[in-house]
Amino acid sequence: MSSTDIQAPSDLATTSEIAAGVAQFLTPVVHELEALVVNGKQAHWHVRGGSFAGVHELLDDLVAHAQDFSDTAAERVVALGLPLDARLETVAAKATLPTLSDGFQPYQRTVAEVVAQIDAALVTIRAAIQGLDDIDLSSQDVAIEIERGLTKDRWLLQAHVAA
Ligand SMILES: [Fe+2]
Repeated sequence: MSSTDIQAPSDLATTSEIAAGVAQFLTPVVHELEALVVNGKQAHWHVRGGSFAGVHELLDDLVAHAQDFSDTAAERVVALGLPLDARLETVAAKATLPTLSDGFQPYQRTVAEVVAQIDAALVTIRAAIQGLDDIDLSSQDVAIEIERGLTKDRWLLQAHVAA
């Protein structure tokens, strides 16, 4: 075998237009999820009342899932060759999550407020699912998996206050 048989690695099999489209839709998803990680912990620390134990524990699960989902979405963007900006100040400026009440809270309010946080994130995630349909199906699959997981966490929390 001569040296001419050794092939250089091929270029990434993705166009820059596809990568830019993926970044356009998954970067906002990362911002929402990183904000959910921070606010989920805030809620975890300050919940009180009769369902303290269950809600406290579920909020830690939510935080862990949101961090995993964020990692998957961010690494999909990077895997296609583009950077993303998820610095603290950027997340604070871009995330659409409503403001949590400050201080200790009864579990009913905690659940309602965290569900509202999840709902805000889901608007962005579902927009990504729609937007990625024509751009990149593997990236759409990332958004679909996140939507499914977050909707399940929403149900587990909501069940603490639903009639
Ligand atoms: Fe904890």
